Parts: sequence; structure tokens; C-alpha cells
Amino acid sequence: MITNTELEYKGDLYPTKIVSFEHEVDSVFFHTDNSVILKVTVLRDSLIRFRFTTKGYFSNDFSYAIDKSHSHGYNFLEVSEVEDYYQIKTSKVQCRIQKIDMRLSIFDLEDHLILEDELGFHWEESYEYGGNIVKMSKSSKDGECFYGLGDKATQLNLKGKRLENFATDQYAFQKDQEPLYKVVPFYIGLHNKKTYGIFFDNTFRTYFDFCHERRNVSSYWAEGGEMNYYFIYGPQMQDVVTTFTDLTGKPELPPLWALGYHQCKWSYYPESNLKEVAAKFRELKIPCDALYLDIDYMEGFRCFTWNKEYFPDPKRMVAELAEDGFKTVVIIDPGIKIDKEYSIYKEALEKDYFCKRADGPYMKGKVWPGECNFPDYTNPAVREWWAGLFKELVSDIGVKGVWNDMNEPAVMEVPNKTFPMDVRHDYDGNPCSHRKAHNIYGTQMARATYHGVKRFAYPKRPFVITRSAYAGAQRYSSSWTGDNVASWEHLWVANIQVQRMSISGMGFTGSDIGGFAEQPSGELYARWIQLGVFHPFCRTHSSGDHGNQEPWAFDEEVIDITRKFVSLRYQLLPYLYTMFWQYIEEAIPMLKPLVYYDQEDIQTHYRNDEFIFGNQILVCPILEPNSLGRRMYIPRGHWYNYWTNQEVKGGKEIWVDTKFDQIPLFVKSGSIIPKYPIQQYVGELEFDELTLDVYYKSGKEKSVVYEDAQDGYDYKKGRYSFLSFQIIGKEKELIIQVHKEGKYDTNYSKYKINFIGLPFKVKNIEIDNEKILFDKRTFENGNYLIIDKEFTELHIIGE
Ligand code: GLC
Repeated sequence: MITNTELEYKGDLYPTKIVSFEHEVDSVFFHTDNSVILKVTVLRDSLIRFRFTTKGYFSNDFSYAIDKSHSHGYNFLEVSEVEDYYQIKTSKVQCRIQKIDMRLSIFDLEDHLILEDELGFHWEESYEYGGNIVKMSKSSKDGECFYGLGDKATQLNLKGKRLENFATDQYAFQKDQEPLYKVVPFYIGLHNKKTYGIFFDNTFRTYFDFCHERRNVSSYWAEGGEMNYYFIYGPQMQDVVTTFTDLTGKPELPPLWALGYHQCKWSYYPESNLKEVAAKFRELKIPCDALYLDIDYMEGFRCFTWNKEYFPDPKRMVAELAEDGFKTVVIIDPGIKIDKEYSIYKEALEKDYFCKRADGPYMKGKVWPGECNFPDYTNPAVREWWAGLFKELVSDIGVKGVWNDMNEPAVMEVPNKTFPMDVRHDYDGNPCSHRKAHNIYGTQMARATYHGVKRFAYPKRPFVITRSAYAGAQRYSSSWTGDNVASWEHLWVANIQVQRMSISGMGFTGSDIGGFAEQPSGELYARWIQLGVFHPFCRTHSSGDHGNQEPWAFDEEVIDITRKFVSLRYQLLPYLYTMFWQYIEEAIPMLKPLVYYDQEDIQTHYRNDEFIFGNQILVCPILEPNSLGRRMYIPRGHWYNYWTNQEVKGGKEIWVDTKFDQIPLFVKSGSIIPKYPIQQYVGELEFDELTLDVYYKSGKEKSVVYEDAQDGYDYKKGRYSFLSFQIIGKEKELIIQVHKEGKYDTNYSKYKINFIGLPFKVKNIEIDNEKILFDKRTFENGNYLIIDKEFTELHIIGE
């Protein structure tokens, strides 16, 4: 284990002077006289990879994180040599490499320093394991801020913190507890209103220090592997996040139902219990799309089996639930029970698919089923076999989604909670120990699961959720933040974790609403659901140890609040789906912390609570008991209070009154927010109108709405509908222009347009330059208009 003084360690080695360099296409190699080679590869004008070796040659280049189809190609690349340094220039940045010690610095084209090595690359030789402990330190200027790193349960701005990346089953983790379940060695630096990103693609245990050990130094290091990192230039945070997300991959669209509400508990059984839960949702008219089966559905926790006493006929049950709109999601863990009578165990044993210890025995550890062996998901043949195992669950029984858990991998009753480090892995033909494979084990499991569910769900879309993940896991799976606690502090943590995951490329994430461990009060549950409906993944889950956590476990008021907020989420489904589409298409994070939204405004740099849901809705949870409102920061621009339609000017902190059945919600002026009618599950209703809430603005604003068949792959063949709206507001006029793309014809034929904040009385309305008749009184009373969707310009003219 590396201790506090790793950066000052006397035994550290450093590159000496550069003695030669070669330029080959997109890469430049620099050699020092102590056999260090730095390979600089320009992937895009604002995306540069730095790879170091101390051996005099590079080992095989392999990464699970990088998406092979990421965009690359640059406009300009020039390599030059001046007296003290070499310079690599692209159309966005200039990178200088000092001849004397290989330290590097990166500038924008106006010569503003973006990032500069402090000690730069250095290393400590590891006698015990071979190879190096690889280290990097950068100078940090006063006022610099740091963001990113996945699921860390701490302030959004990581300045002053030291963090550790080692996937860990952290039951009932606490605020600031390290490490957690996921590993995203990617951070964003913000200084002088300019943003850059660093992705340290190294799966060994890594550490990041953001001016914690030394005030003006940020650093990162790994217990093995290569110093291999990507530098991403902004200058906007959006540029950094979208480039990183594109580099590590975007998911496909989930089925729309997966954006509905999910209900889970450890565990719903027997069948009658699950059916009661289903019926109660419908009776209380709380929308719900997915119900989960936790480990007790299995026979002795053996994956891919059913407890026939609790669930005598799973296929019938799943079909009956489906008739009522419920999709069944089942848990599958990595541990395979050691049991000679168990077919999956026997097959894996025969095929030699389990992970082995260094000296040959199979890796054996206790999980729910007792002693288990564990498939080596880093072996492509094992992944292929695993994918095939989902045939019965998905094709025959009709399960719609799979939940992968305990895949850090978690092992019980051992101090390190996981495999010993000598366990061997295939690592896709790059054999290694668990030191290197630990952090990506969960992702490779989720990947195999995803391919299996996808294969058998086809032509429908798969749904997979995982607890552990490494950067890039978003290509295969959604995720949740693990075993949190029913406390107010954890509500605060959940809010930050999900925002942080969003800017770390892994946007389809949520927390266990209400808290997994312990029991929330009704008030806490209500406050959590009010936040949870604004998270991309929205699921209530609990350990079930302390009672129930269905909405009806609480009083009427809480039930009403749950219904109100879950219904609002269902109304906002087209808005939510559109932000998902922007995520898969343009890598834009679905939730935007305030600093992402407006990095130029320094007021946003340390904000934790408020965030932008999609592009146009500002959300701020209530995080304390007995609150009748709260102080919050409204970002710059004009906003409408969602509940009162009152306009506020941002750029300041204000007090917002909210009743128990509200949280502060604001809509950006100029927005057009699409809404569906409230449905009890996705696809329940056929409807003939899309509601558009138009928030008046003086000036211009764009809004978009993406729709398709809500499942299946036709959207990839152009069968989608993409509406771009532009509003132009003037003193006595409002113009709405629509542009339509795509080959999908939505089922509805009309828009119901609600006008909010119109500053004038309407005299005339024109559609595509033709005056229409309208009933002034209805318009004035309701402020809405129902019109045929086939128009290109709507013109509202004031008196
Ligand atoms: C783990 C999971 C939790 C699940 C439980 C039983 O603690 O994080 O969500 O309910 O295992 O499977």
C-alpha cells in the first residue's frame, strides 16, 4: 500500500534528458537516455494521449474502457523543436515537452497555460510484483477546481481531497467513505474559466490527490501498469465531458419503460407477494413499469434457477405481470455455487471457466450461496458462454431486464472483501493478476450479461443494471449507487453521486430511493422520491430488514406526494427520452451540475445541490426535515417557478418557499417542455395530443423533442421523429417555428400548447401565415391552444 509520502519518496525515479524523437503519423515518440519512452498520440485536436514506458519498449496496447468507435481525426498537427523543448501543436492546443526532464505543459492557442507538470511522470520500481508504481504530478493554481471521478460520496468539487479507486462492496457506506463500488479515473479541472480533463486509463488501484497533500499540486498514481492518460481540452466543461464520454462510449437507447418507475426490495417473494405489490400500484394509481426479483427467487441462490416453492411457474407469472404493464427484472450475481448437482457449476468446471489462484486451484470465496467459484469474465469465451445462459430467462420466461450485483467482486467474511490479488485473469489474452483485473471485473460481467439479454430480447431492447463499473461500462449497462442508508445525509450524497456519475460518462444512474439500509421516515421517503424522479434511473429499493418501503408503507400524504411526483416523471417522459437521446447521440450528460451549466459564473464552482435536469429544468432537492423552503442559487438567465409560473432572474441566491408536496423546480424561459398524459406504465394509453408547455421569453430559444417506437431498433434506420422548436418572443408577439426530421410518424395528430408567461393579451393567431379563428375566452381562461401538429410556424400576435 502506498502511504502519504508517495510523491516525495526517495526511491523514485525520473526520466532524464530526451536524446531522440520520431514522428510517425499521429504519434510522436520521445526517448530519454534512461530508456523512458513517451508516446504522444493526437487523437483529436483537443484529445491527446500520453503513454510512458520505462523499459525501452511498450507492452501490448489494450484497454477495456476505450470505445473502438470513438471519433478521432484532427485538423492540424505540427511537431517542432526549439532550444529547450519540443512542441506539438494542433488546432486547439500546444503541448511542450522539456528536453531536459521530459516534463510537459499544455497551452491553448493564445498561450494561456492549461496544465503543467510539477514533478511530471516518475515511478517507483515494484520489487514484489515487478513493473512500477507509476506516478504523475501536476502543478495546480490557486482557485483551481476539480470534478468527476464517478460515484464518490463527497462534495462535487473535489479540491482538497484524496480519493482511491478500488471497486469495493461498501455496505451502508458513509459520506466521504472511500473507496466505493465504481472506478472512473477521470477528472475535470477548471481554472481561469477554462476546463480540461484527464482520463488515467489504468485498471490497477489508483489514487487521485487534488491539492490535499500539497496545496498547489494535483497528482495521480497507480499500483501497477502504465502511466497512460488522455488529456482533453475544453475550454467548456461540455467539451471535456462529451469528448470523454465519446472516448469511453455511449449506450444505445434503453426501452422507454426503463425510464419509468421501478420498484424493488430484498426480496419480493413468494409470487403472491409480488402480485400484491403490483396490484397495489395500480389500485393507488402510482405509475410503475418494473418490478424486481432479488436473490430469494433462486433455488439456494444458484444463478439461473428458480425456487419452485415461491415461484412455481415463472413464465406464467411474468406474463401475467406483463399484461398489467409490469416488466420483471431479476438479479444475477457472479458467484456460482460449488455444487456438483448444479448444471451451471458443472458446465463452467468442465469448460475451465472459473478464475484460478496463482498456483492453480480455483478461486473460492463465500457469497450468498455459500462457497462459490467465479467465472472469469475477462475471458471472451466465458463472456460468450455467460451470454448464452440468459436464453431461458429472457426468451422462454420473458424476463425483461437483468440486475448484476456483487460484481466488485464481493466476497464475504474476508478482510479485503474481495479476491486475493494473486487470482489470475485472461484479460482478453493479456493474462494478469487480480491487481490489474479487479476494477474491470464488474464491467466485463455486465458486458457479458448485456450481450446475452440483448441477443434474446431482440428485436426489443435489453435492460441491464450493474453495481460495479469501470469507465466505459455505460456502453452496456445502467447502474445504481449501491447500499446507501435511509438518512438525510444520504439523500445529500445521492444527489451528488448521480450528478457526478452524469459528468463521468455514466449517466443512466440512480440511488436506492428511500435508502437501502435502515428505514426512512415518511418525510424522508417523500423528499427522496421528489429528487429520485429527476434521476435518469428511478428505483425504490431497500434491504427489507426494517419493514416495507413501498409508497403505501407510509401515510396518505406521502402516498399522494409519491403519486404526484412519479406522475410528473411519466408526464415528462418525452423530455427525459430526448435527453437520453442527446446522451447517446452527442454524449451530453443528462444531468448538469451548475458548474457544468455555467462555468464562467464562479458562484457555481462549489454548488452541490442544484442541478439542471436535461437542458431546461432546474431542480433543487429539499435535504432537511421540516423544511418549508430553502435557499438556493438560481443560475444566470431567466427562469419560471414551475409551481407558481412566477418569473425570476438568476445569478443570485434566493429563498424559495415550498410546501411538503413540492421541491424547488424552475423552467428556463423560452423552453418548450413536451409532456405525455399520465400513464400507469409506458404504452398504457393511446393519445392524440402532445402537450407543449411554452415558457415565454423575450428573445430566442431552441427546444427539441425526440421520439420513436419506444423500443426496438427501427430508430437506427431513421424511424424516429425529431422536432426542433425555435421560439422568438417580442414585446407583443410570439413566434414558434417547428422543424421536423426523421421517418417516424408519431401516433398523435395534435399539440396542446400551454402558454406560460405571455406578457400580452392575444389579438390574432396565425398558422403558417393564415389567420385562424380561435375562441378568445377559452384562450384567456386556459391559456392553451389545440392545433394540428402539421405546421411550421405559429404566430401569436398581441393587442
Ligand atoms: C447487495 C445489493 C443489494 C441487494 C442485496 C441482496 O447488498 O447491493 O441491492 O438487495 O445485495 O441481493
